Amino acid sequence: MNDKKKSYIRFQNVSKTYFTPAGDVPALKTLNFEIQRASFVGIIGKSGAGKSTLVNMLTAVDNLTHGELWVDNTPLHNLSQDQLTRWRGENVGVIYQSFELLNQLSLLENVMLPMDLCGKFIPFESPKRAKQLLEQVEIGDHAQKTPDLISGGQRQRVAIARALANDPDLIVADEPTGSLDSQTSEVIFQIFQDLVNRGKTVVMVTHDRNLASRFDHLLFLEDGEVIKEKKRGKND
Ligand SMILES: Nc1ncnc2c1ncn2[C@@H]1O[C@H](COP(=O)(O)OP(=O)(O)OP(=O)(O)O)[C@@H](O)[C@H]1O
Ligand SMILES: [Mg+2]
Repeated sequence: MNDKKKSYIRFQNVSKTYFTPAGDVPALKTLNFEIQRASFVGIIGKSGAGKSTLVNMLTAVDNLTHGELWVDNTPLHNLSQDQLTRWRGENVGVIYQSFELLNQLSLLENVMLPMDLCGKFIPFESPKRAKQLLEQVEIGDHAQKTPDLISGGQRQRVAIARALANDPDLIVADEPTGSLDSQTSEVIFQIFQDLVNRGKTVVMVTHDRNLASRFDHLLFLEDGEVIKEKKRGKND
């Protein structure tokens, strides 16, 4: 059911504590916020604020300690590990700061991998689809190269193409422009904006406050808490 008023993502009293031999680290403290579908969301905060921890909750690569996390009416807090893995493969594209591409594989094979693991597309179609995705981020000419032979900005584009492999509704990027020059970050930013314009929801971590005015919805994180939230009005 498509209830427009219902939020796409809902964090309800979400907390995350890392239990370590050196002591407990309360990385996220009682987060409460909602995200609408097809919005471009920025998570801004200093190093150690909890941004990556929040990303790991939203992409279900790690379990939350308390609370409820709903994405498109799916209660992530109630799913088993197997269900979470499947949910992630089908619904989320993740872009890590360090790209996490496999150097043993060509760019094309890197993008095909999530498709072959998820089984959403016919295996026969995955090379063609991977090529199209690489072309979409303007790196199609290098499809047969391995990631170690291309630049950082190019690797970032491949990571985006791979995140889009299974046509996810949600794209989550942890500092995708952190190590890029301003021209390349602008290109990456524009790719995300285009995805939002096509109805995808993009959540992007950054600690660059200069980008703040470009998001539809901003969450300022400090010491594991949302200290400020800002949403763009319709007329802004
Ligand atoms: N696996 C872990 N075990 C223990 N503590 C952790 C772990 N991961 C993160 N932390 C701690 O949790 C807090 C939040 O870390 P997190 O990585 O989410 O911050 P961040 O905002 O992403 O920082 P950065 O901008 O440097 O990437 C920090 O105090 C960090 O030291
Ligand atoms: Mg981080």
